[in-house]
Amino acid sequence: MKHFLNTQDWTRAELDAALAQAAAFKRSKAGDQLKGKSIALVFFNPSLRTRTSFELGAFQLGGHAVVLQPGKDAWPIEFDVGTVMDGEAEEHIAEVARVLSRYVDLVAVRAFPKFQDWSVDREDRVLRAFAKYSTVPVINLETITHPCQELAHALALQEHFGTPDLRGKKFVLTWTYHPKPLNTAVANSALTIATRMGMDVTLLCPTPEYALDERYLGWARDNVAESGGSFRMSHDITEAYTGADVVYAKSWGAIPFFGRWEQEKPIRDAHRHFIVDEAKMALTNNGVFSHCLPLRRNVKATDGVMDAPYCIAIEEAENRLHVQKAVMAALANQ
Ligand code: CP
Repeated sequence: MKHFLNTQDWTRAELDAALAQAAAFKRSKAGDQLKGKSIALVFFNPSLRTRTSFELGAFQLGGHAVVLQPGKDAWPIEFDVGTVMDGEAEEHIAEVARVLSRYVDLVAVRAFPKFQDWSVDREDRVLRAFAKYSTVPVINLETITHPCQELAHALALQEHFGTPDLRGKKFVLTWTYHPKPLNTAVANSALTIATRMGMDVTLLCPTPEYALDERYLGWARDNVAESGGSFRMSHDITEAYTGADVVYAKSWGAIPFFGRWEQEKPIRDAHRHFIVDEAKMALTNNGVFSHCLPLRRNVKATDGVMDAPYCIAIEEAENRLHVQKAVMAALANQ
């Protein structure tokens, strides 16, 4: 049984098929691929796009979505194995996942890191536990990666460039300032899909401490070896933007400072100038800009960039609906 925990677990042929199916769903949104089927959407964190697009996507394919928020409208869940459950949690993931699997055909999970200890967060244990105990396919709605966002971004680029072949495009993944240390998930994912698609990828970030986890750097290197693209890290804004075909922005907390965020804050605060603005975009090769959203205007990117014709963030957000329908259809009918 196949899950959708990371794009790296899917073959390139499977990803290409999902993107082609998503493009077909964009042309014609109704279908019956989920007729009589259902999905549980388990949210441990807030969402606008993911929740809306999954609920509507299931409906448009004839299926039904149930949204659950453990600790709010569903019981708090225990994930430790062998623990004496005398704390807040009322039931164990072993029962939660098995019971949901008796009701629904797909289970999808959003569980952000706790931001205290990266060695713990990098194990992605909530998602892994759902995958371990569920007897139906599990979909990652964003944990320490965001594979649905990856596909939506890839589809937006394929549409923009008018071809499924993105090889050779110069792709810049730029860190941007945000007042809080944010999840590395979308950055990990952008790096993964851009290298998988054979693009020439630059990771632009303030200092070496903002390098992503070695697991994702390793995936990038593996993907480059397979797809023929390239990957490098830079701290030079002008050099990175010059000639870029794609600028993708995200803020994230520096991994060496996990749990010691007050020590990271001065570094982050000193790099507010990483904001994506019109002057930087003017250095590109008529490049497009995108972001996963939500985005703080005039903090991560200027109004001018967000409202420019080269901003494809809304297109990417729409594509969440189409790619997720493709993923649900593929998993529910395997
Ligand atoms: N990009 C994204 O996942 O948006 P939400 O957090 O609103 O779901």
